[in-house]
Amino acid sequence: MFFCGIWAILRSSTGEYAKATQTVQARLTLLPGDGIGPEIVAQAERVLRTVAERCGHEFSYTSGPIGGNAIDDFGTPLPDDTLAACRDSDAILLGAVGGPKWDDPNAKTRPEIGLLSLRKELQLFANLRPVAPRPQLLDASPLKREIVEGVDILFVRELTGGIYFGESGRRELDEGEEAYNEMKYSTPEIARVVRVAAEAARGRGGRLTSVDKANVLEVSRLWRSVAADVVANEFSDLQYDVVLVDAMAMHLISRPRDFDVVVTGNMFGDILTDEASMLPGSLGLLPSASLGESGPGLYEPIHGSAPDIAGKGIANPLATILASAMLLRHSLQLEDEAVLIESAVDAVLESGARTADIAAGGPSIGTAEMGDRVIAALQA
Ligand code: IPM
Ligand code: MN
Repeated sequence: MFFCGIWAILRSSTGEYAKATQTVQARLTLLPGDGIGPEIVAQAERVLRTVAERCGHEFSYTSGPIGGNAIDDFGTPLPDDTLAACRDSDAILLGAVGGPKWDDPNAKTRPEIGLLSLRKELQLFANLRPVAPRPQLLDASPLKREIVEGVDILFVRELTGGIYFGESGRRELDEGEEAYNEMKYSTPEIARVVRVAAEAARGRGGRLTSVDKANVLEVSRLWRSVAADVVANEFSDLQYDVVLVDAMAMHLISRPRDFDVVVTGNMFGDILTDEASMLPGSLGLLPSASLGESGPGLYEPIHGSAPDIAGKGIANPLATILASAMLLRHSLQLEDEAVLIESAVDAVLESGARTADIAAGGPSIGTAEMGDRVIAALQA
């Protein structure tokens, strides 16, 4: 049985509990982006519309250009109007940005700058990337079933600092040109993302792992001591450990079940989550949520714009559909509706429906048909 709406638990004076549902109104901004972005966001939008209708919520939608198409049309990867629409909304759903058309290393700007600027402008410092192989797809993973079965990791990647946002540039030296990127983290930047991860660990398996490179990097030594202080002072109930990033890369494929919540910096998190995406078998299944202290959250699949299959109608929309479930959960507090979508995705996979990326060479369906199946499961 499915439930809709916020279950407000009201405690009466006699100590009895009553449950009530309510209509939620929300303004959503859709940023389809480049490559397969528009195709997959279209399916997630259909799913959101179906849930809203079924559960009596009122969502309004605006959309805006971002990434390469925005460079083409407006000369910038994040036009002011797009940023304003995002600021003015309750949550943002993004497809993907980038593609070979905008890859010229000498170009003035790049599609990715649009996404990085959006994260920075909205102060979305905590990027949640859950990795839990779905039981129906255990054999889609390149790793053995015994390794991936039961894996349930939440990565919390710092998203608005570190080497992604340090000073960068090039300079001429006598011996030739040199390029540099500065990596830095401050105590408050580290503490706030560790807190988000620790809170999440409290609500899950109670284990937190911080990943760094403290044997080499000064930044990581600060990271490690701040993380340890936050945990000791505020989260001493958690089981806490630290792992070096190179060792983590190894543990992720040898004993991924041993991890619960993993918190790390921007670049380590980028790399480790692409690696972890192979546990469930396809990058096409993983959603993410980027959250700040306040304001709208940004929801996107962790995969890229897949220009090689763009426009063919074969991309897997499930990561974006699952991102829309995270949107309902984290920005609109609609937990039941999020579960509704996740259960529908499970039911569709259970029925054997597969897009090409997870079909292991077997029969596959296209992007829109996968959307149809999820909607049919939602209405069942
Ligand atoms: C991601 C992507 C981005 C990142 C790119 C597109 C800028 O790889 O969200 O993981 O590196 O953060
Ligand atoms: Mn990435």
